[in-house]
Amino acid sequence: MVNCKPFVVLSAAITLDGKIGQRNKKTILSSKSDKIRVHKLRSKSDAILVGKNTIEEDDPLLTVRHVKGKNPTRIILDSHGTIKNSSQIIKTAKKIPTIIITSELASKKNLSRLNNLPLDVIVCGKKQVNLKKLVSILCKKGINKILLEGGGTLNFSFLKNNLIDEIIVTLTPFVLGSENSVNLFEGTVKGTKLSSFKLKKVQKNKNEIVLNYKI
Ligand SMILES: NC(=O)c1ccc[n+]([C@@H]2O[C@H](COP(=O)([O-])OP(=O)(O)OC[C@H]3O[C@@H](n4cnc5c(N)ncnc54)[C@H](OP(=O)(O)O)[C@@H]3O)[C@@H](O)[C@H]2O)c1
Repeated sequence: MVNCKPFVVLSAAITLDGKIGQRNKKTILSSKSDKIRVHKLRSKSDAILVGKNTIEEDDPLLTVRHVKGKNPTRIILDSHGTIKNSSQIIKTAKKIPTIIITSELASKKNLSRLNNLPLDVIVCGKKQVNLKKLVSILCKKGINKILLEGGGTLNFSFLKNNLIDEIIVTLTPFVLGSENSVNLFEGTVKGTKLSSFKLKKVQKNKNEIVLNYKI
């Protein structure tokens, strides 16, 4: 039971075939003006949340750079606590608030390494991060608006747990095909009841369309 829940906005750039990236290959889908829009959104959020694979594959900074504004807290879901010290997130953790969420699977060695870094570590869940518990913990810490920036596996987990309040996707003019590509939602929808969101806003921006769906 979630009694304190932040508002969760899923934000992603997708291709015409609904992909968000390619395995082991950094793929840039967004235009400069879309990056500006996303950075504005970041500056109005309390936290940006991403999965471990996104960090390993893209090595992002997850900061506000294309507009003026505050950096939200960066939250990384990493059940084993294996995020590399050489990642941009760890290298900038002294200056930008960062929380690593691990599970009981994280070894003592990994936990002690992380605990010696200038960031917060929260152990939440047995074999994977327990999302319902996590959002409640974050809410109690004063995090009321989360920008969920993927990747596909984490997006699907949030969807499965009914934790997404809004979806903002930029439809970009690219096709990645099926081999080695990552879907916006990586997972299997069971049963016949499909998740349904209401289209609230459409913005055309040159070659892209920004679609805003709410529950
Ligand atoms: N176009 C875009 O807007 C956009 C945005 C972001 C990412 N991407 C792309 O997405 C790709 C990565 O996506 P991905 O699906 O491979 O991985 P991901 O969603 O980034 O990370 C998934 C990993 O997070 C960890 N995790 C911990 N707790 C979890 C939970 N409760 N639910 C789900 N995951 C949990 C798991 O690893 P552990 O078990 O090891 O903890 C899991 O394998 C990259 O190619 C990246 O470029 C694109």
